[in-house]
Amino acid sequence: MIDFAGLPYYEDVSPGSGALPPRAWTSTSDARRLSLNGTWRFRLSPTATTEDESFARPEFDDHGWDELPVPGHWVLQGHGAPAYTNTLYPFPVDPPRVPTENPTGDHRIAFDLPGDWPAAASGGDALLRFEGVESCARVWLNGQELGVFQGSRLPHEFSVGGLLRPEGNVLAVRVHQWSAGSYLEDQDQWWLPGIFRDVTLLHRPEGAVRDFFVHASYDHRDGSGTLRVDSEPGGRVTLPGLGIDIATGETVTLPVEPWSAELPRLYEGELVTEGERIPLRIGFRTVVVEDGVLKVNGRRILFRGVNRHEFHPETGRTVDLSTMRQDLLLMKQHNINAVRNSHYPPHPAFLSLCDELGLWVIDECDLETHGFVDLGWRDNPVDDDRWIPALLDRAERMVERDKNHPSIVLWSLGNECGTGRGLTAMAHWIRGRDTSRPIHYEGDPSCTDTDIYSRMYPEHAEVDLIGRRAEAPLDDPELDAHRRALPFILCEYAHAMGNGPGGLSEYQRLFETHARCQGGFVWEWIDHGIAHPEHGHGYGGDFGEELHDGNFVCDGLLFPDRTPSPGLTEYKKVVEPVRIEGDGPAGTLRITNTHDFADLSHLAFVWSYEIEGLTVADGPLSVPPVAPGESAELKLPEPPATDRAGEALWTVRAVLGQETPWAKAGHEIAWAQLPADTRGQVSRPRTAPAARPQRGPAGSGTLALGPGVFDAASGALTRIGGIPVTGPRLDVWRAPTDNDNGAPWQPDRRYGLIWRELGLHRMRHRLDGVEPTDEALTVRTRVAPAATDLGLRADYRWTADGDRLHLAVSVTPEGAWSCPLPRLGVRLGLPAAYGRAEWYGGGPGEAYPDTRAASRIGLWSSTVDALQTPYVRPQENGARADVRWARLKDEHGSGLRIDGEPAFWFTARRWTTEQLDAAGHTPDLRAGDTVWLNLDHAQHGIGTQSCGPGALPQHHLDAGPAEFSFTFSLAR
Ligand code: GAL
Repeated sequence: MIDFAGLPYYEDVSPGSGALPPRAWTSTSDARRLSLNGTWRFRLSPTATTEDESFARPEFDDHGWDELPVPGHWVLQGHGAPAYTNTLYPFPVDPPRVPTENPTGDHRIAFDLPGDWPAAASGGDALLRFEGVESCARVWLNGQELGVFQGSRLPHEFSVGGLLRPEGNVLAVRVHQWSAGSYLEDQDQWWLPGIFRDVTLLHRPEGAVRDFFVHASYDHRDGSGTLRVDSEPGGRVTLPGLGIDIATGETVTLPVEPWSAELPRLYEGELVTEGERIPLRIGFRTVVVEDGVLKVNGRRILFRGVNRHEFHPETGRTVDLSTMRQDLLLMKQHNINAVRNSHYPPHPAFLSLCDELGLWVIDECDLETHGFVDLGWRDNPVDDDRWIPALLDRAERMVERDKNHPSIVLWSLGNECGTGRGLTAMAHWIRGRDTSRPIHYEGDPSCTDTDIYSRMYPEHAEVDLIGRRAEAPLDDPELDAHRRALPFILCEYAHAMGNGPGGLSEYQRLFETHARCQGGFVWEWIDHGIAHPEHGHGYGGDFGEELHDGNFVCDGLLFPDRTPSPGLTEYKKVVEPVRIEGDGPAGTLRITNTHDFADLSHLAFVWSYEIEGLTVADGPLSVPPVAPGESAELKLPEPPATDRAGEALWTVRAVLGQETPWAKAGHEIAWAQLPADTRGQVSRPRTAPAARPQRGPAGSGTLALGPGVFDAASGALTRIGGIPVTGPRLDVWRAPTDNDNGAPWQPDRRYGLIWRELGLHRMRHRLDGVEPTDEALTVRTRVAPAATDLGLRADYRWTADGDRLHLAVSVTPEGAWSCPLPRLGVRLGLPAAYGRAEWYGGGPGEAYPDTRAASRIGLWSSTVDALQTPYVRPQENGARADVRWARLKDEHGSGLRIDGEPAFWFTARRWTTEQLDAAGHTPDLRAGDTVWLNLDHAQHGIGTQSCGPGALPQHHLDAGPAEFSFTFSLAR
């Protein structure tokens, strides 16, 4: 065991020195404050070994130094480079020692006090507050050392009243990238040193509030709220909306409207002490674990959550207020009701926004020691008494700062730090300080210290077992009984890396079936792709790291620029808080309110009746204000009279009746489509073979069949009407998605690798026969990779009827296929001019077998370019589901129409699948002279095995006999 004595302060495991005890944060008060954000002076040294502290002296000349905006991370500001690892410590593991190569940033700012800054003679103090510095800081004001601290995403304050001068103050901060604290901050994210959150000078008048604690509970049995505000020093609390005017420490109970994520009722008021007035925004709510279920205000809640790291593609974990708000608006607009602060307390302003807009929050401590897992957790700091003070310091700083937010319903001890005494000490301290919130931690399966059973990435089947409280028992019967009685959440599930995640609907069904399963938090909110001059958005390895985890850092529901990915659209649909079901032909409708608190009075319902995607009639639907958990049975209107033939659908939508703080009136919350009648069919062209294959002009080597021209020798179609084409021919390859590639710990599911090893990306097409008959042209082939006896017999049977050319494909596998196929269909190339697509089928966005909940049947159009989903690492994307027909048109509106029987998966792009597969970043993809179409009979599911279970068996594309057909005609 290492001797911890005598190490430099940045290798000290103690919580540091000089900082004041933590306290509640408040965004405003009438006490004066001065932001020290702005342009600082900066000097970077490669090591931390310098003894030279002269820069801390006010008279030091820093004119030769660079300028640096604070807050920020110097590695994103032209000094050094960011580095990404998932669990690996990017330095030798020898706690608490860190490398000699310890980039050290010296920061300086000179400032004057504003003219109205209270004079020292008026009493009081001033505090210097740092909201976040990664990873260790040593601070001087006017040459006087204030202290040192670690705990990157936690606040630290120093008392500086006695040191301030009206003019010419100099604040000097030495920041080390690595410290003992780095061992506690091994979260899966970029390593980004710097003063990355606000620095503020706070005046503290005599009699100002040192700390305050709002206790505001709600009793659902009688609708009363109980309020007590503790404050040091004491004062008065007023809440005019409730007529409250009480002394601090005094308790009052009265009727109130409760706070919930759905109805975030806040009461505004004030805490007034002798020296300060602090605005209050109080939400009354009570969180308990009761009958094995997590309840708020007496009701079981269901988390429709996401994990959120602080991230911005240009500024890293320095995130401004408008970006925070944008995150929350996007969440609310996508039916998300919960956020886990993975894996550290966020900027404090984020929590105030959660209070205001209504999100359930898990506030997680800045603690992860995941890199010890590969060492068998040897020397894990959370199981070493010497680190306990540092762990307690972190727990205290989180709880004290954030305790007054009604949105926080669970405290989380940290993430992925194994098990140990340190965690128990933290839980014990938290329970002693705040009894109003249960405790979460995922990493200890025994749940010794927690009130919630939490897991990440279990399979659906296991969630089902846990839901029934029938999970595999723990060895210790007492712990087993304890855990079995706990509510269950998935603090992480559905890994949103690249295309996906698949399987969301099936999870949601489990959450809605078992009371114990109280939802989960998709991993994660946003791709952490950093702006890169060449790559667009860079990931691990793009900044010269010697050790990195590639694009595992791009696994969010938003692209780095905060554009929603198809995964977010899917999640919105899957978690919609209203279920619309019915029987179209019978004209019945059932509306179920799956909110936890809100009735449906805030929603307006509308119906439309569509034939082949064209709205024939629409109107409002009167729905009673169904209570949460209840359903209403309704009648659909009479189907409108129409001459139009074709597939008829009802679309019923629930939209916001009025504007809310997070969306406009009319914003869609939920929807469903129901077949309108059993008669309506898609009007498909029927081709009765009418033409017969004809030899082309002598010497041309061609065959003609209706509008099709074929190469007589190979049987390959070369033109339809006047349009030159390549293919169609059988295609099974897709550019493996991150989920196809899977995670190293599940080798048998890494289909992307298995497919490649099998050679599915280099299939050979052997021609076995070109057989023109009176009725048809049949081309027989065998499609197979080298070095194996596996293959697919593929017969193409061409017939024509006037202007239409019909292709029937029949596929018969040969050999013992032991893995699913990526896709099964045909690939067809058209000239680049055919750059506009229209289709009738699923849209508007991408869908795959297990990511198709949000795909709705309609008439859609898009450019081929806009059909692409720009995953940071390019991979298979862009399929549209259930396509009955598609048209590819040039700028004059003419082109090719393709009808499928049965409906097909439609993909179109300006590069080949092989080029897509070879690309490392989106700018690598360059449009060629062909628009490539994939018309797929089937696709393999997506799953979430980049870090979780694979596609469910029902979404596997197993090799088997298949028949499918397409009709080609010219479109105008
Ligand atoms: C979890 C971890 C997250 C992230 C995720 C995979 O194990 O808690 O921080 O690494 O896996 O992206």
